[in-house]
Amino acid sequence: MKKVIVFGASNSKVSINQQLAMYAGSKLTDVRVESLNLNDFEMPIYGMDREVENGIPEQATAFSELLGTADGFIVSFAEHNGAYSTAFKNIFDWVSRINPKMWNNKPVVLMATSPGARGGQTVLDIAKGRMPYHGATVVGSFSVPSFGENFKENKIINKSLDAELDIIIQDFIKAL
Ligand SMILES: Cc1cc2nc3c(=O)[nH]c(=O)nc-3n(C[C@H](O)[C@H](O)[C@H](O)COP(=O)(O)O)c2cc1C
Repeated sequence: MKKVIVFGASNSKVSINQQLAMYAGSKLTDVRVESLNLNDFEMPIYGMDREVENGIPEQATAFSELLGTADGFIVSFAEHNGAYSTAFKNIFDWVSRINPKMWNNKPVVLMATSPGARGGQTVLDIAKGRMPYHGATVVGSFSVPSFGENFKENKIINKSLDAELDIIIQDFIKAL
């Protein structure tokens, strides 16, 4: 059975992006879905001096190896000041030193949500532009604006948004 890793690119314990990524993962059929929590991979802030002096932290190696076990990924990015959360960027920078193609040329759905009307579109655009250089075969991207209005009781309640996600998930399943 194919394995898909899903996670919110946030270290919040109540991450709305984690909730959205898990919901998207719940739409997969005949697939093993494994969720990640970025808090399990907390490590020093990336710095070249630290890398030279202490090497690459074991959490980065563990993260990289875990990505290597997956046939595809669903990632929802938290937007902090128009960019990746620091928690994700730190892992991303460390892991890029081990395997710059960290998504291993596998299919990836990129998502974002925020409480605001733009729904994390700025960080989503950054990820769409960048992740193909890191081995992501991007099969779809999806944003949920105004999370509090459109997502309730662990699901998207806006019918047209949910239908849009269904189409992306079908494309993703075909690409696995
Ligand atoms: C430091 C900081 C910066 C933020 N910047 C943005 C932003 O640029 N755009 C946005 O839509 N929301 C922004 N937010 C609100 C986040 O979208 C909101 O906290 C959201 O819950 C983050 O996703 P998460 O719950 O998955 O961590 C910011 C929040 C914080 C704490």
